[in-house]
Amino acid sequence: MTQPPRTRDANTREDCEALDRADPLALARAQFTLPDGVIYLDGHSLGPATHAALARVERTAREEWREGLIRSWNTAGWIDLPRSVGAKLARLIGVAEGDVIVTDSVSVNLFKLGAAALPVAKSRTIIVEDSEFPTDQYVAEGLTALSGAAMMRVGEHQGILALQQTGGVLIRSIVNYRSSDTVDVAAFEEIARASGGVIVWDLSHATGVLDLRLGAKGARLATGCTYKFLNGGPGAPAFVYVHDELAGKIASPISGWFGHADPFAFNAAYAPCEGVSRFAAGTPGVLSLAALDAALDAFENVDLKHIAAKTGALGDLVIARADAMGLATISPRNWTKRGGHISLLHDQGYAIVQALVARKIIPDFRAPNAMRFGVAPLYVRFVEVWDAMDQLADILETRAWDKPEFHARSKVT
Ligand SMILES: Cc1ncc(COP(=O)(O)O)c(C=O)c1O
Repeated sequence: MTQPPRTRDANTREDCEALDRADPLALARAQFTLPDGVIYLDGHSLGPATHAALARVERTAREEWREGLIRSWNTAGWIDLPRSVGAKLARLIGVAEGDVIVTDSVSVNLFKLGAAALPVAKSRTIIVEDSEFPTDQYVAEGLTALSGAAMMRVGEHQGILALQQTGGVLIRSIVNYRSSDTVDVAAFEEIARASGGVIVWDLSHATGVLDLRLGAKGARLATGCTYKFLNGGPGAPAFVYVHDELAGKIASPISGWFGHADPFAFNAAYAPCEGVSRFAAGTPGVLSLAALDAALDAFENVDLKHIAAKTGALGDLVIARADAMGLATISPRNWTKRGGHISLLHDQGYAIVQALVARKIIPDFRAPNAMRFGVAPLYVRFVEVWDAMDQLADILETRAWDKPEFHARSKVT
């Protein structure tokens, strides 16, 4: 494993400048178009635009949609985008190129994969931890109500034990959205196989910040967001991974025409196509897919070991500075056990985050008290983390957060 730069030795802003000069990913930043003066630490919610993605949306809309019209499904390759963008994504999660497609949202894909996994699991039980992202829990509830499977909601870190005991279907994030805790995928998959259970992995917070190598670790089913650390744009479609060996044995519960073996034959009866593409359902959102396709080019030729190491180093710097301010963290201190954000706790976290945003430093907040600082390795600089932490220290010391406008809650936090 590539060691992260020694951020423990970064005691000054100049030390951080030196880390930026030595950063093998430093050049990637030029591909992003961030607003002037903004320090963006919210890539775990919505990644920023790349120049290439903006240009591609413009081209797809003006040339392919306006000029090409319906012909563009063939001439501009729109019809192949779910698979070709999936192939780009496959490298980032470490699986075979043909085993990934881009389609629907994570919520919808969790439903499809959970339902598909039930018939091949030893028991008809859906397991989810109560610390899991809410949509994962809600989908598990809805799916059990509809399918008649048993619902097991268990405490944090208890999911794998429940899977071992029941051999059911576990829905599990690789990186927890609140704490940033990661999980040992290979060990979990070993337990799943031994018990006859199946794991549906949620990669939403993991892709783009870790060297996942899911294939080598035995993962069989996964879905994840593309609008966070993959920078696909607001509401960009999610992806589905199904290991080829399993794909022929399972079926999507949404038997839509885009998962049909021959959609343009317009047969009355449904016949699923080969492989992961059977998890496509309806017509894909081409503008979003095009943006994502171009955004993923920022990862081209990037070594995933460097990605993971820099994510770890930036996170270490956040934690070291937070320690000095007396702020507690719920994120693991060991960088190999953490994703791409650090959660710092404060009762006034919401107002503090608003005070930071007013100073053009953008993290986010998760109720009741977690301030999340995202450290996306392609565009966040060490010196920016240093400056952001200086501002955080000042806001805490001067109580600058204690103004009525910083306490007013918006719809989206
Ligand atoms: C772990 C996790 N899963 C799922 C989602 C939501 O997925 P979607 O809105 O694409 O259904 C999120 C969104 O932040 C998430 O953090």
